[in-house]
Amino acid sequence: MIAQEIDRSISAIKAAYKGDFPKVALILGSGLGKFGDVMEVDSIISYDQIPDFPQPTVVGHAGRLLIGKVGRTPVVCMQGRMHLYEGHPAENLAISIRTFKRLGVETLIITNAAGSLHKDMPAGSIMAIDDHVNMSGHNPLTGPNDDDFGPRFFDMTEAYDPKLRARIARSAKALDIPLYNGVYVQLAGPNFETPAEIRMLGKLGIDAVGMSTVQECLVARHCGMTVAGISLITNLGAGLSPNPLSHEETLAEADAAFGDISRLLVNFIDGLSQ
Ligand code: HPA
Repeated sequence: MIAQEIDRSISAIKAAYKGDFPKVALILGSGLGKFGDVMEVDSIISYDQIPDFPQPTVVGHAGRLLIGKVGRTPVVCMQGRMHLYEGHPAENLAISIRTFKRLGVETLIITNAAGSLHKDMPAGSIMAIDDHVNMSGHNPLTGPNDDDFGPRFFDMTEAYDPKLRARIARSAKALDIPLYNGVYVQLAGPNFETPAEIRMLGKLGIDAVGMSTVQECLVARHCGMTVAGISLITNLGAGLSPNPLSHEETLAEADAAFGDISRLLVNFIDGLSQ
């Protein structure tokens, strides 16, 4: 059970930030950390000031909470996330989301870097997540259910909120940014997939593959938050292009496509308070 960790995280955040807590939370994926520069930041809380938040260990994940505004909308932003492959027990990935829930967050926007299963959705593409498949082998809700957050068994039919998906589509159209839609799969990582795994995922109807997002979406849906997910495609899946995959490529491609995804996020998030 992580109830104590959540209580302590709430106290640490309240000690560091006295203002009204935002209703929108944003998780920045690999290479998207510099979206923090696009925010109007009121307050920065390093995760090491929140002792029970798992600390990220991956290059490109800073490990700070930014509280401020994106456009006109108040937002709490996780600049850096934690992954299963870092060794965090899946259950601990629920701490930040449940802490946000208790502080009043209603909407969670999850971003990630992902590999594409389609040659015609190349590096630099932006994909709104319509649905997901959990192939990570883990679930942060395993164990006794905490009824204060949600029921033991819960519905995942509209895991990625249709109204938020429509808003993302409208923002992309208004900005003339091409937008793909598709199904995201989370594998445990930390290795990139083999070409055989990529061929299998393609046959299963998957559009993009990564190592995050699903755990966070599960925790958020369990406690009744609405969720939006956006993947930044940083590479074609293994075997679909002659290049070997690397984290450096992920970061470089995220950097190259940063302008478009950042404009899209600003337009979409700004519109949420209208
Ligand atoms: N596979 C898994 N995770 C990823 C990839 C990939 O090809 N690219 C970025 N994150």
